[in-house]
Amino acid sequence: DTPELVDRFGRVARDLRVSITEKCSLRCTYCMPEEGLPAIPRENLLTAAEIARLVGIGVHLLGIEEVRFTGGEPLMRRDLEEIVAGCAAVAPGTPLAVTTNAVGLAHRAAGLAEAGLTRVNISLDTVDRDHFTRLTRRDRLDSVLAGIRAANTAGFSRVKINAVLMPDTLVGAVDLLQWCLDEKVELRFIEEMPLDADHAWARDNMVTAQRLLDVLGERFELTESGREDPSAPAERWLVNGGPATVGVIASVTRSFCSDCDRTRITSEGTVRSCLFSDTETDLRAALRGGASDEELAAVWRGAMWNKWAGHGIDAADFAPPQRSMGAIGG
Ligand code: GTP
Ligand code: 5AD
Ligand code: SF4
Repeated sequence: DTPELVDRFGRVARDLRVSITEKCSLRCTYCMPEEGLPAIPRENLLTAAEIARLVGIGVHLLGIEEVRFTGGEPLMRRDLEEIVAGCAAVAPGTPLAVTTNAVGLAHRAAGLAEAGLTRVNISLDTVDRDHFTRLTRRDRLDSVLAGIRAANTAGFSRVKINAVLMPDTLVGAVDLLQWCLDEKVELRFIEEMPLDADHAWARDNMVTAQRLLDVLGERFELTESGREDPSAPAERWLVNGGPATVGVIASVTRSFCSDCDRTRITSEGTVRSCLFSDTETDLRAALRGGASDEELAAVWRGAMWNKWAGHGIDAADFAPPQRSMGAIGG
């Protein structure tokens, strides 16, 4: 038995992403179907205590160094503060982050920081109200902007903004970057992946990182500054000489799968080795059936061993996974 989460290709997973709900307050077209995802019966969702136990196993037995809560939208869980506090208690010192749309975050940012949350990444694709409402199918831009400002003063070590690249986002990219520079938050653009519920994604129609850089380059001076660490998904550019940066997560045109260090737990307690996996490995039954920490760790290791080499989006026989992004959590 190896102690860590290693796969056949020698990659080691140290970054755990835990999806905690399928519910969301928005309906972004690239992520969720208009009607939302089918509700998961409450008893199938991991409880705060179960999440804390798995996080403890990840950190103490499997070499996990950072934990991120995703969804759906993590704020849809009223017990998010309890989840964070429970994980902070079992794994003191481990960075705990959340990826959120920030709707309603203004009221909870301070409490989450107090519970032990250390970092927040916020999805915001545009600062134009009409574009926002069309893209998310909800008129909640004000709540999101208030959430970002609250996060920025709540004491988190950093706040990053994620913008998925779509034709509308490209049109507003200069304004969005200027807004982030003014608010002193770090912006990253993300190439859209074929994880939309409607299966409308097409390689030929997607906005590439290169297109974005061309557009931004007309208004800002960009200087390459590399990745924060080898497994970080974003490549960064200094804006107008820095210190502010803009990042690009080019998951499709410059995939970073060979340096991937992620493992995922779904809201129903299965291990998902890759965003694009076609199988998941159940931990919940064993967890509820009285398995020991070592037994759960062994199942988790086995699930990661068979992780795919990469997403294979450009392969001739590529088929998108069953779950849409809304059900994986990015
Ligand atoms: P940081 O630790 O702040 O760098 O977080 P992160 O970028 O790993 O997490 P975040 O949830 O902010 O993810 C940003 C985007 O990166 C997601 O929306 C995905 O599009 C993409 N992404 C995250 N993880 C993966 C992954 O494992 N594979 C691929 N292909 N893309 C990913
Ligand atoms: N491709 C790339 N990123 C996506 N996200 C949601 N759907 C997609 C997609 N199809 C992003 C969100 C959020 C993170 C959780 O995933 O914008 O930042
Ligand atoms: Fe890792 Fe899979 Fe994402 Fe590639 S697509 S970076 S292998 S999780």
